[in-house]
Amino acid sequence: MTQVHDKVHKKIRKAVFPVAGLGTRFLPATKAVPKEMLTVVDRPVIQHVVDEARAAGIEHFVFVTGRNKAVIEDHFDAAYELEDTLARRDKHEALKSLKADQPAAGMTSFTRQQEPLGLGHAVWCARDIIGDEPFALLLPDMLHLSDKPCLGSMIEAYNEVGGNHINVAPVPEDQTHQYGIVGVDDVQASYSPINVMVEKPAPGTAPSNWHITGRYILQPEIFEFLGRQEAGVGGEIQLTDSMLKLRDQLGQGFFADRYDGEIHDCGSKIGFLTANMAYALARKDELADELRDEMKRMLG
Ligand code: G1P
Repeated sequence: MTQVHDKVHKKIRKAVFPVAGLGTRFLPATKAVPKEMLTVVDRPVIQHVVDEARAAGIEHFVFVTGRNKAVIEDHFDAAYELEDTLARRDKHEALKSLKADQPAAGMTSFTRQQEPLGLGHAVWCARDIIGDEPFALLLPDMLHLSDKPCLGSMIEAYNEVGGNHINVAPVPEDQTHQYGIVGVDDVQASYSPINVMVEKPAPGTAPSNWHITGRYILQPEIFEFLGRQEAGVGGEIQLTDSMLKLRDQLGQGFFADRYDGEIHDCGSKIGFLTANMAYALARKDELADELRDEMKRMLG
C-alpha cells in the first residue's frame, strides 16, 4: 500500500454534514422538526457538530439536506427580527452569542439528496461544492465530547501524513453490527494504518471492536467511486465500500485515528438522553451541580 506523502498537505477547508435522514426512530418528535434540530441542552445537535468543525478551523460548511429540512438553513442564517428585538430589549449577551454562532457570509452551502440512497450517495451529492480538495465529513448523529475537538486532532494527524483518516473508538462486542468496523496495525498509536474495514458486520464476525465514529478526512478521488453508485449492505450506497476501493484500487493511505473522549450516538434514544446529561454536566458553572442534585433525588 502506497501512502500519500506530499511535503505540504492541502489544507482541510471544507466540511460536509449529511442531514437528509428521516429520523424515524424519534417520531413523533421528528414529524415536523428535523432530527438534527433536536436539542442537546440548549443547542441543536447539528450546532454542536458545526461547533466542533469550526474549532478545528473549517472555513466552509456544506449541508446535504432533504425534504423538510429547510429550518436547518434558517438556523445558520441571520434572524433580523429576533436580533432587532433582542437589541431593543437590551439582551446584549444573547445577541452576542447568536451572532458568534452564525457562520460568516458565504461560508455555508446547501444541496439536496433527493432520494434516501445511503450515506455514500449523500456524500456524493456534495461533489461539485467540494471540488478537487480533501475535505472533512462529520455525521451529525455522533456527538464527540472532549477537551480537544475530535476533528481538530484528526487534522493534526492528517497534516503529518496526509491521506485519508477515519476516526475510531472501541465499542462493546454486541454493538459491532451497528457500525463500520476497522482493524488497525497498532492499537496503541494515536493513528495507524487500517488493514481491514467492513460495514456493519454480521454479529460475531467483526474483525475487531474498533468502530467508525462518524468523523472522516477524505481525498476528493472518493467521488469517482461514490459516483458508480454500487449498492452494498442493506441495499444502500455505502461510504465504506468506496473507501475500500480508494485504498485498494488507487493505493491511497487510510489511517484510523484513535479517539479517547466521550461519544454519544444521538441516533438512538439512549444516546440522545445521555448526550443531554453529559453536555449539561460539562456546563460546570451553570447546570452541573443542580442536575446532579436532581438526579440523586430522582434515583432515590
Ligand atoms: C454510518 C457509517 C458507519 C459508521 C456510522 C457512525 O452508518 O456507514 O460506518 O460507523 O455511520 O454513526 P449509519 O449510522 O449511517 O447507518
